[in-house]
Amino acid sequence: MNSFLDIHKRVYGKKTQTVKLIRHVWKPSGKRVNSIAVTGGALGDEGKGRVTDEVTAEFLEKYPKVIHYRDNGGANAGHTIEIGDKRLALHQLGSGVTQKGCTTILGKEMVLHPEDLVTEILEVKHFIGRKTLPATVYIDEMACLALDTHRAFESVLKKRTSGGKGSTGRGIGPAYADVLYRHPLRMRDLMKRDWKDKVRLHYGLYRDWTRGLGGNLSKEEVPRLGGKPVVVGSEEAFISTLEKPRKILAEYVCSLYDVVDRSWNSTVPMVFEKAQALGLDKRWGVYPDITASDCSFDGIYSSTEGIVDPSRIAVKAGTIKATYTSSVGSRKMPSQMDEPLAHRIREDAYEYGATTKRPRDICYIDLPHLSYLSRVGGLEYIVMTHLDISYPDVPVKVCVGYTYGNKKVGYRPDQEYLDHVTPEYIELPPWDGSKIHDISDFYDLPKEARLYVQFIAESLHVIPLMLTTGPKRHQSIKMYV
Ligand code: IMP
Repeated sequence: MNSFLDIHKRVYGKKTQTVKLIRHVWKPSGKRVNSIAVTGGALGDEGKGRVTDEVTAEFLEKYPKVIHYRDNGGANAGHTIEIGDKRLALHQLGSGVTQKGCTTILGKEMVLHPEDLVTEILEVKHFIGRKTLPATVYIDEMACLALDTHRAFESVLKKRTSGGKGSTGRGIGPAYADVLYRHPLRMRDLMKRDWKDKVRLHYGLYRDWTRGLGGNLSKEEVPRLGGKPVVVGSEEAFISTLEKPRKILAEYVCSLYDVVDRSWNSTVPMVFEKAQALGLDKRWGVYPDITASDCSFDGIYSSTEGIVDPSRIAVKAGTIKATYTSSVGSRKMPSQMDEPLAHRIREDAYEYGATTKRPRDICYIDLPHLSYLSRVGGLEYIVMTHLDISYPDVPVKVCVGYTYGNKKVGYRPDQEYLDHVTPEYIELPPWDGSKIHDISDFYDLPKEARLYVQFIAESLHVIPLMLTTGPKRHQSIKMYV
């Protein structure tokens, strides 16, 4: 018998709820106290930013200082946080940036776009109505640059191969490829007196590569945060657009090895906020919809040069949307949701990309997929967001297995394989999501929702850490005391 069905039978067959609140979550034995790392447990946009923002706020109620560390990705990420009635989409900055007492670090293995980063800093200042950022921001001088040249090259490449299809167009793949080709431009290069020489070499290379693919670098249009696309321009024009951001960013750029070392070897709370999600990782995602950075907790180890051992982080959590999965890209998941319901969810949960505004595809909860990601990503805890997306008249449909021919099979990150599997579903009792927004105690949730949380968590071999019941900061249920 299918193991998810066994778990289903066990959970739904019990007369009483068996989920227990977690004690001492920030002080488990043998681990580094007050530390949490959060990554996407599915295909991205599951609300990691919201979770790390909330946990940071919670730590700041008890401690004067929190360190926030982001190790991967760049302007491709879109982390939305809501404060009051206002929504803020963060891309390169960490979610703790609006909080006083937080030090937010953009780590060594990020790829940063200087002009967009400056725009984002201004957007945050405007959002909070202040001239200075509440948080202290540090940018690792070793972080690499993802420039307009990378965006232009990615766009030209996209016309030639399927490789760039589905990308956010933020030049992330080419920027990480520069590292493998051994010629990355780093933040510190931009800070040096001779910065123009390196940038010139870089421009020349991308001009020739782009020309080789039939493009014209100076005339390519690239997206810009909060504005219209711009052309890359001539070598001189490209250099001059970097002039202002390099001066503005200089106050944030420094060597961070000692800061991270001191912080990790203390008890100051540390929040590691990953970008993207395990299902977008190049090893675990479906081509071509994968991103170039390490979306697993291992990336924290390499970005901090081995200072932070992820196995010692107290809480390693993945976020998923409770009752569905959403994504953009050209992959075709077997568990694609039928349109009328997908449309309803897309509108109710505003399922449009935070970076690109593209409508997202909606899938049923797919346990073979999610349990694969939970296993390869080493998840120990789960945060289930959007628990309010459940309609009293629509059963929650969950994929509990795939068959290939007559054989029961699991998920594998291979589109050709996934095209041939047939999903098997069960339907679970729904609850009225519109009535749970203000519930803050797990045991006040309708029984159907409680059983559902337990079933999904047990199926993924993880412990529920937090549930969210609406977009506002207070609309969440903590599963720990
Ligand atoms: P790239 O990171 O721009 O190269 O995009 C590669 C793939 O990852 C595409 O399918 C993107 O839609 C997806 N992607 C990248 N960043 C995010 C994110 O923050 N949320 C969701 N999808 C993302």
